[in-house]
Amino acid sequence: MNSVTLQSPLDMHIHFRQDEMLRRVAPLSALHFAGGVIMPNLLPPVDTVERLLWYTQEVREALNGAPFQPYMTMFFRDYTERELAEAKPHMLGIKLYPAGATTNSDGGVQEIRSMHHVFAMMEEMQIPLLVHGETHGFVMDREREFCEVYRHLATTFPRLRITMEHITTQDAVALLDEFENLFATVTPHHLIITLDDVVGGMMNPHLFCKPIAKRPEDRDALLDAALKAHHKLMLGSDSAPHPRSKKECPGCAAGVFTAPIQLPLLAELFNKHGALSNLQAFVSDNARRIYNVTPPERTITLSNTAMTIPESYAQDVVPMWAGRTIGWSVVS
Ligand code: NCD
Ligand code: ZN
Repeated sequence: MNSVTLQSPLDMHIHFRQDEMLRRVAPLSALHFAGGVIMPNLLPPVDTVERLLWYTQEVREALNGAPFQPYMTMFFRDYTERELAEAKPHMLGIKLYPAGATTNSDGGVQEIRSMHHVFAMMEEMQIPLLVHGETHGFVMDREREFCEVYRHLATTFPRLRITMEHITTQDAVALLDEFENLFATVTPHHLIITLDDVVGGMMNPHLFCKPIAKRPEDRDALLDAALKAHHKLMLGSDSAPHPRSKKECPGCAAGVFTAPIQLPLLAELFNKHGALSNLQAFVSDNARRIYNVTPPERTITLSNTAMTIPESYAQDVVPMWAGRTIGWSVVS
């Protein structure tokens, strides 16, 4: 038998939602993870200190005492210095969405260059900027086009720490080595699938997300960086639960749900490529160093014991690869 033991895995990009969905999905992340970065794209978004404190409390209640540290974020807008100062102790960073780029982002930024004063304050106050990096161009080109914006921000604000969230292209991987202040998260699904898996055969709505999965060479560049646990790359699942009725319909919502299966997927993938010894850095150590966080101590062991992915979780949320059997599972 082959196995791997991980210390305090962290999921640096998760959608927990609110109300009933929050109460159902938060415990699923807490089963395997010691902490994670909680996204603020609620309706309305988490964009006041008051709402941040309220949402933190909601998340804590949903976690029900589980040893999981939620690292909260606020939704980027034109904040004052006073608002930033008040919010800073209660959050990990601020998440910027271009207006309309993805689920619940209509209130996002219209014109990034008009927000320089906010980036300057964040740089001064050492508040990390997390970014959904897509333009409004052709869907396959959106992230590549956005690399210009990353370049602009990274050079204009050299002390602002910027995380390129859920990168999907070789262009974004290359930026990691170009700018000291750029970091990235990558999802397990973007390490595994390409656009072919989404729409190349029968359409699979449960693999439809933003940014859309790209070309094989993009997937290979992401995988290469993950397998060697590139020191500026972190696991961020972008696990984004939507009820089945919002996925299996015309106007399918964007988001792939992977929270409870990502460590088995990754253990199988890293093992297949002879890189299991780098999994710890990819799923925890890099994030701890990049964000200077100390999550609760937890130990998760996986082995090459097969598991069949459930047809649904949290009542009616269909995970990636529902019903498929994979070679690895969590044993303790
Ligand atoms: C996310 C969601 O559903 O909130 N959807 C997605 O396709 N990834 C939002 C996001 O991170 O883009
Ligand atoms: Zn997301």
